[in-house]
Amino acid sequence: MSDLSVRLAGVPLRNPFLLASGIWGESGDSLAGAWRAGAGGVVTKSIGSAPRPGYPNPTIETYGQWGMLNAMGLPNPGIDEYPPEIATARAAGATVIGSIFGGDAEEFARLAGRMASTGVDALELNLSCPHAEGYGTEVGGEPADVEAIVRAVTRATALPVIAKITPNSADPAALAVAAERGGAKAVSAINTLRALAIDTTLHRPVLAHGLGGLSGAAIKPVGLACVWQIYERVSIPVIGIGGIATAEDALEYVMAGARAVEVGTAVAFRGIGVFGELVRGLAARLDALGYPSIESVVGIAHPGRTRP
Ligand code: DHB
Repeated sequence: MSDLSVRLAGVPLRNPFLLASGIWGESGDSLAGAWRAGAGGVVTKSIGSAPRPGYPNPTIETYGQWGMLNAMGLPNPGIDEYPPEIATARAAGATVIGSIFGGDAEEFARLAGRMASTGVDALELNLSCPHAEGYGTEVGGEPADVEAIVRAVTRATALPVIAKITPNSADPAALAVAAERGGAKAVSAINTLRALAIDTTLHRPVLAHGLGGLSGAAIKPVGLACVWQIYERVSIPVIGIGGIATAEDALEYVMAGARAVEVGTAVAFRGIGVFGELVRGLAARLDALGYPSIESVVGIAHPGRTRP
């Protein structure tokens, strides 16, 4: 039986499938549920300095099984209220990655210290929400800003820092390079693609906020290309995100260079039972292909890499 465990930024994971930020997991109970369902770790909803109600409805539009457009507006209870949720997830034994968002390096650093004190295993910085005014891509769209934010956070905490970068950039790999320079221990790619739907009867955008972020199967080839390019330019591990719904999708990401993957839209569409299917499916596929472990397959699709 192939070994699915991986070490990511110094954190041991029982398998490479992480619950993606913002999906299923705002409460400690839901994070714990994803862990019990077989996830290798869970990433929290992005947490900010103060409570935010998020945008009004509608916030979600779906495209069959192909994709999902959302603009939730970073709803979250704020860092003061959040520690008990982390405690619940940790009490269930979950490996927890705390996601934070801020408007500048100082706010990120302050939040990082607060999130670190909850006992999470690592931090993921949301540098990539594609539509929140003053956050996400607006502060993480340029390499110099990514580097400064990551550096400020790494000075504020000893925890491993994972930078989640945007695909809405001419050169996403340059953002990953900047994150590595700033001291990130891993980079996750990608977040949603900025996207829009129009209701022609109302002659208005479908989502109340207008612009949203596209996720799901439709963006898998974009995510793969970003992971591929990032793998060639950094030496820190890459977490692949974007349209992973089957073990085969995950294996594509791993062969492109991902050491772990995050699963979001597939969980939204099919529930947390998807983790069991992914874990069993990936072990079976690696066995069938004759690979001893997931780690032995990371980046193997790149020219010059040969089978172990
Ligand atoms: C939201 C959407 C994102 O893609 C993201 O990275 C963070 C937040 C949201 O709308 O809440």
